[in-house]
Amino acid sequence: MAATDLERFSQNAELESRNLPLGGHVGFDSLPDQLVSKSVTQGFSFNILCVGETGIGKSTLMNTLFNTTFETEEASHHEECVRLRPQTYSLQESNVQLKLTVVDAVGFGDQINKDESYRPIVDYIDAQFENYLQEELKIRRSLFDYHDTRIHVCLYFITPTGHSLKSLDLVTMKKLDSKVNIIPIIAKADTISKSELHKFKIKIMGELVSNGVQIYQFPTDDEAVAEINAVMNAHLPFAVVGSTEEVKVGNKLVRARQYPWGVVQVENENHCDFVKLREMLIRVNMEDLREQTHSRHYELYRRCKLEEMGFQDSEGDSQPFSLQETYEAKRKEFLSELQRKEEEMRQMFVNKVKETELELKEKERELHEKFEHLKRVHQEEKRRVEEKRQELEEETSAFTRRKAAVEALQSQAFHATSQQPLRKDKDKKKS
Ligand code: GTP
Ligand code: MG
Repeated sequence: MAATDLERFSQNAELESRNLPLGGHVGFDSLPDQLVSKSVTQGFSFNILCVGETGIGKSTLMNTLFNTTFETEEASHHEECVRLRPQTYSLQESNVQLKLTVVDAVGFGDQINKDESYRPIVDYIDAQFENYLQEELKIRRSLFDYHDTRIHVCLYFITPTGHSLKSLDLVTMKKLDSKVNIIPIIAKADTISKSELHKFKIKIMGELVSNGVQIYQFPTDDEAVAEINAVMNAHLPFAVVGSTEEVKVGNKLVRARQYPWGVVQVENENHCDFVKLREMLIRVNMEDLREQTHSRHYELYRRCKLEEMGFQDSEGDSQPFSLQETYEAKRKEFLSELQRKEEEMRQMFVNKVKETELELKEKERELHEKFEHLKRVHQEEKRRVEEKRQELEEETSAFTRRKAAVEALQSQAFHATSQQPLRKDKDKKKS
């Protein structure tokens, strides 16, 4: 069927939609039950990201929230950078299976330079979106049994200083707010007094608003939960206390932290907001958090990524988006870019060859000059040696001549002395 026929067909179908009474029970009112049954069989996944400085009570709160003991090791204070550590657990309550992943931002806030502390967290969240997108784009995709690792909620642990948010908190939350549902919580709330806590909460909310940080708002559009969610929104950020220790209060064992001056009960709403957090996070809004992750944060990631890849919706609603055309346009763009790069590289190569040639020529000229210089030096040396040799030869011959003259004189003197006694004898005889 051609596209225009399809459009006409769907328009007609819309026009022809009429209300009809049913003659009896047909059974499609069981559709919601079918959905519930399918979802229960399939199981659910829920992924929590815990961001907060080392030792702020992340693991304790997770154990308290899910009333179990997750395997956790204490983080070192000497991590070179923030490292994301995901751990997945299978939990079951009644007949509902939950695949829970708790991701710890290990070493957060421990570095001297905290400028890039948010980056590994943002990269991790994006990587989970990318994995999902890649699965979606596969020709043979299996989203049904795909283990969805996208982060559904980020519990941001605020240090109970009573003053204000640290700039690290503001920067990190700002970087994360378009990628994940952030629920800020004041950790170790038992270390701050009631009046200080009240002021601290107001201060935190003021700072978040003035810095444009969007935190997760419990939805108020569903009538069933609108009221409770609206009330809970006003209690943010929740001030929580975590503990897996059981203490006897009256004749009941309750999870609490015991101090010399009293007991802080985790599930006592007069002591802290732990119950509010658990209600909102697990019992009331878990599905909304999953839904928001998919329809808001993932959708934004997907849109940006596809636009980056060159896919674009056509202008106006009348023209449908054509994958073929986009693909062709992108292919052409890619090929021309490739050609441009090739030409650029060729030009670069030619320039490099020219440069090298010039360098070699310069080197050759230098060598030649050096050679000429050495030749001149050598000739000069040779000339000087020759002169010296001639001088020496002259000296030798002069010496030989002098020696010969001396020898001749010596022999004359010898002859003269050897004839003198004979003449004396002759003279004696005469007399
Ligand atoms: P790392 O994983 O090492 O970063 O630590 P963490 O943030 O998981 O903290 P953890 O839960 O290990 O708790 C650190 C210490 O804080 C432990 O001694 C806990 O008993 C204590 N702690 C946890 N929650 C609370 C709390 O609500 N109040 C107080 N006062 N102490 C707490
Ligand atoms: Mg921990």
